[in-house]
Amino acid sequence: MNPKLDVARLSALQGESSWRDSFLQWLERLYASPKLYSLSLTNPLTRWVTRRRTQKLFDLMAGFVHTQVMLGCIRLNLFKMLHQAPADLKQIAQRVNMPEPVLQRLLLSAVSLGLLEYRSLSRFGLGPLGVPLATHDGIAAMIEHNHLLYADMQDPLGFLSNAWQGSMAAYWPYAHDAQAATRAAHDKFSRYSDLMAASQGFVVQEILSSYYFDEHQCVLDVGAGKGRFACDLAVHAPHLQVQLFDLPPVLALAKNNVEQRGMSERMNFHPGSFLHDELPLGADLITLVRVAHDHPDEVVKQLLQKIHAALPLGGALLLAEPMAQTLSESFKGPTQSDAYFHFYLLAMGAGRLRTPEEIMQLMAEAGFTQIEHLPNAMPIHAQLIVGRKSKCLPL
Ligand SMILES: C[S@@+](CC[C@H](N)C(=O)[O-])C[C@H]1O[C@@H](n2cnc3c(N)ncnc32)[C@H](O)[C@@H]1O
Repeated sequence: MNPKLDVARLSALQGESSWRDSFLQWLERLYASPKLYSLSLTNPLTRWVTRRRTQKLFDLMAGFVHTQVMLGCIRLNLFKMLHQAPADLKQIAQRVNMPEPVLQRLLLSAVSLGLLEYRSLSRFGLGPLGVPLATHDGIAAMIEHNHLLYADMQDPLGFLSNAWQGSMAAYWPYAHDAQAATRAAHDKFSRYSDLMAASQGFVVQEILSSYYFDEHQCVLDVGAGKGRFACDLAVHAPHLQVQLFDLPPVLALAKNNVEQRGMSERMNFHPGSFLHDELPLGADLITLVRVAHDHPDEVVKQLLQKIHAALPLGGALLLAEPMAQTLSESFKGPTQSDAYFHFYLLAMGAGRLRTPEEIMQLMAEAGFTQIEHLPNAMPIHAQLIVGRKSKCLPL
């Protein structure tokens, strides 16, 4: 059975019908008219618009093929291979032990998607979208991991009514079992923690380039995983002391990782569950990186209250994770990354993708003030919200 899921309140949609509704209905009639479709193709300007819309729809239809082409290339290690040196069909076929005619289909498809590019002497090299796949193991690991999600979603409607039964739910033990830390096998924790550590680099970069840590003395990272952010932060801001809080099996992995990076002296480890335990005291900044979206509102509210209680007056919470497009942004055009996260988090458990406004509201309810949505360069990786524990005495 699925857990009790939150329903997002989309306040701007609750208003009276507006001139915008009428405009959109008029536009819908235009789009539906076969006569207008034919007419639009006769004029270079309108032809461009219609072609673009058709191409976008085609891409939606073909999305599964696109992702499988990318996965096929990763499984054959093509991106790393061609990053070392471009190669022709024959050379690649020998290296991956695959017949040339079928391999060629894969290579040509990858070229059409910008993953590979043609080079001189009939060779293939990396295209602009292939380069990050060769150089960032975290992206390749996430693409491989998505295989679980896509297997769960084979039947999209069946998935919606039974989302909690698939392999993604089994992958994330804590997302549907409050006692997972004592009940689930330890390799389940290392499996997701390795993936998180591998994929956290871009998020860490967003945080370190968007927030000044100078005013803080001690940072507590809640849901710290293997401590990648904690270590990078300790290097970035050498004056900081860092505390890590996570489930006991995960913190054991973090301890090893921190030791390997030679940073044990800067770190304190606090194993526990924020569902059952209080957070350690002493930090004047608490960070929550890709944690809140794993949990339903009820859990997030309790967690934010615990964070508020653990902070000194004037202390701050910095929350970073992917967030949903706001309604005003959606009027400018759709973003496809939201669809991915909505389905990923549903397959995982009872968490959800929230808009910055929803998160700010939850933080305000937990007692935070001066809540700011920080601008950052790559919101697709994570958006950032900071809130403070007021120094003012309550009236
Ligand atoms: C999606 S991972 C993110 C890890 C890391 N912050 C990152 O961005 O890579 C969420 C983390 O929250 C931890 N977590 C989940 N439930 C928890 C709980 N009840 N108490 C403490 N940590 C928890 C998980 O073990 C995991 O390390």
